[in-house]
Amino acid sequence: MFKIESKINPQSDHFQQQWQAYQSILSEFKSRLEKVKHERSPGSIEKHRERGKLLARERINLLLDRDTPFLEFSAMAANGSYRDEFPSAGIITGIGIVEGRETIIIANDATVKGGTYVKETIKKHVRAQEIALQNHLPCVYMVDSGGVFLPEQANVFPDRFDFGRFFYNQARLSAAGIPQIAVVMGSCTAGGAYVPAMSDETIIVRNQGTIFIGGPPLVKAATGVEVSAEELGGAMVHTSISGVADYLAESDEHAIQICRNIFQSFEKKQKQLLDVKPIEDPIYDPTELYGLAPIDLKKPVDVREIIARIVDGSKFHEFKANYGPTLVTGFAHIMGFPIGIIGNNGVLFSETSLKGAHFIELCSFRKIPILFLQNITGFIVGKEYEHGGIARDGAKLVHAVANANVPKITVVIGGSFGAGNYAMAGRAFEPNFLFMWPNAKISVMGGEQAANVLIQVKEDQLRAKGQSLPEEERTKMMDTILEKYETEGSAYYSTSRIWDDGIIDPADTRKILALGIAASLNKPFSEPGFGVFRM
Ligand code: COA
Repeated sequence: MFKIESKINPQSDHFQQQWQAYQSILSEFKSRLEKVKHERSPGSIEKHRERGKLLARERINLLLDRDTPFLEFSAMAANGSYRDEFPSAGIITGIGIVEGRETIIIANDATVKGGTYVKETIKKHVRAQEIALQNHLPCVYMVDSGGVFLPEQANVFPDRFDFGRFFYNQARLSAAGIPQIAVVMGSCTAGGAYVPAMSDETIIVRNQGTIFIGGPPLVKAATGVEVSAEELGGAMVHTSISGVADYLAESDEHAIQICRNIFQSFEKKQKQLLDVKPIEDPIYDPTELYGLAPIDLKKPVDVREIIARIVDGSKFHEFKANYGPTLVTGFAHIMGFPIGIIGNNGVLFSETSLKGAHFIELCSFRKIPILFLQNITGFIVGKEYEHGGIARDGAKLVHAVANANVPKITVVIGGSFGAGNYAMAGRAFEPNFLFMWPNAKISVMGGEQAANVLIQVKEDQLRAKGQSLPEEERTKMMDTILEKYETEGSAYYSTSRIWDDGIIDPADTRKILALGIAASLNKPFSEPGFGVFRM
């Protein structure tokens, strides 16, 4: 493979200015992350510790194999909502290594409103289970939760992907041979009681864990009987009388050790084989991505410069380099794993769509995972292109993306707009993982375009009535729409709603991609299978 020859001069004024500007984006990202990880309402951490319990992150650290990484998902979920009273939506999810196996961990954070579930908590929990299914990863549920956050019941209880989905997913995952283990380290109330009850094996901590369909207040209200939580559904009850739990643990630490022991009995599954090469660092420093990340989406950035700072040895075997140049396609390695890369270098034309679809076919038949680097304003518009069948050719790319049989990982490095988002494996196309850089933007179209469309529609309406849009109204409309798109298009707005799996530091992209690829190999790839490509 040839090495990418960078044309960037990191000493240039332009690069230095961009790098400096990125430092404020990065420091905002890091300070937001620090807050959601460690800031809690006064007294909640102390109360938790006084009960002899470990914090959710400490529990996860103990569960993981020593010195192995944790790929956390959507740490900033619910950020900016509920007066910021639900940091990380009160739940920590991610992939870690337990007894040598990539594992999905779903841990309630009881220091956040008793570990109760709002809409985003549920979305994170369900998304983590989806990842488990898509990549065949065992699940550990570290349960410490008061169940549904009752004032939000209408947003969390009744719908298809609401609270009930957890238990449906557990049943389906178990049936697919994907182990489901619950460690009950606090409350499991009402519907929450089904998390341990639906698991393959369950551990419960003495004097801490409780499992009941109706807690003591409900029992008193319904039957008039006063009963303590421990008597109703404590660890002794469930390990010696009801049989709802299988192992009695004396502490969080003991429970975690039992959980690790359970992993030793799992069947060793064959992973997808890839032609893995020795790892090479990129020749160009990954922190130079700070000087390259597209902040001003009007200024083009050659995606090859980004690729050069992500892939092993900065080596890239480019496919169809001179054809359809606004889409860059080619093969590389990331931490030794082979990868096919599709990156945007401008809008999508007919020929770029055909090139992208062709490249996806190659990756599918050769069983090589695909990385999509999104920085896309959309498909080309105009009479000439409509007549040329841009919709038909774009559909070929969308079709190939939807049916690719290999893992897909998407990173939004700049803009993600309109149908370009679909063609580049946006969320609806079920990439195994989707991450955003903190500078990234996502919306149906750019704010300016949206404002111009809406103003045009308004002007047409008024013209039909013989009226016109006053300049002042026009400016007001423009400003309002621009502001709305600016807010709703930000990476923070996206990640708060779990439209992605988290915002990542550009310099960590390479490491995170490698973790994602490694996890995706737990499910052997299927054979290629495409439908009808409209010709
Ligand atoms: N809905 C809404 N808020 C809840 C809640 C629920 N189900 N359970 C707890 N909270 C809130 C509390 O009001 C409190 O809020 P605040 O910090 O604003 O005062 C916060 O969560 C912590 O609760 P607290 O009871 O002080 O903490 P705890 O650690 O002593 O106990 C629980 C936590 C979850 C064991 C306990 O609150 C409880 O039993 N809750 C009811 C659980 C239930 O019946 N759920 C049914 C849902 S299907």
